[in-house]
Amino acid sequence: MRIDVVSIFPDYLSPLELSLVGKARTSGLVDVRVHDLRDWATDRHRTVDDTPFGGGAGMVMRPDVWGTALDDVLADGGHLLVPTPSGTPLTQRTAEALAHEPHLVIACGRYEGIDARVAAHYATRPDVTVTEYSIGDYVLNGGEVAALVLVEAVVRLLPGFVGNPESLVEESHGAAGLLEYPVYTKPPVWADLEVPEVLLSGHHGRIARWRRDEALARTASLRSDLVAALDVADLDARDLEVLAEHGWTVLDGELSLRGT
Ligand code: ADE
Repeated sequence: MRIDVVSIFPDYLSPLELSLVGKARTSGLVDVRVHDLRDWATDRHRTVDDTPFGGGAGMVMRPDVWGTALDDVLADGGHLLVPTPSGTPLTQRTAEALAHEPHLVIACGRYEGIDARVAAHYATRPDVTVTEYSIGDYVLNGGEVAALVLVEAVVRLLPGFVGNPESLVEESHGAAGLLEYPVYTKPPVWADLEVPEVLLSGHHGRIARWRRDEALARTASLRSDLVAALDVADLDARDLEVLAEHGWTVLDGELSLRGT
């Protein structure tokens, strides 16, 4: 996979050199290239922004500078990803889909954002897909951190990236649609806290059931949106019992929360 990231703060993206993503780069799993948007500016001051038409606070990034940069980086097409708090939420499903694509380009805006014509223009190119995405309902100073988040979420899903692909299956936001169960290691007693007995039992069936109960209970307590999205057909009698303890019942084939 190839990933290009365009930013006016390329140094901000240096964490991509580190850790596991860095390892994926050196092993050839992914080719990440970070570009300085100012390399495409044409004036002496390497200007990339201007005042907003219609007035208002802040500066807007110019479409002409972004246009020459993206024409270069997207010369052979690709998926253009634009981080913005007004984009669609980035989810594990998005990351899974992106992990199958050959070329991602992330355009990091700063200030009040990028002139809206940039996304509109590239969306008309048949060889380019445009996605504006948000990493959460809060506002950052620019898209760089959101670019790091996307790269890490996608690269760890590339075949050959994690030693044990099983570890991708049970984690939070995996296929089951549940938050992950709590995990423990040695020592068995720490700060007067004991590891749950069942995990020391060696009984695989009971351990799996306990973990699923915990995942269901945790999801029910913290993320009613995820419970509401579960498919009742994927739940067994014990699952429904755990959910019922948290106020969820099945009504007309759908899970519904008591009192809502
Ligand atoms: N840029 C600024 N805030 C952002 C957010 N929450 N998600 C993605 N990009 C952003």
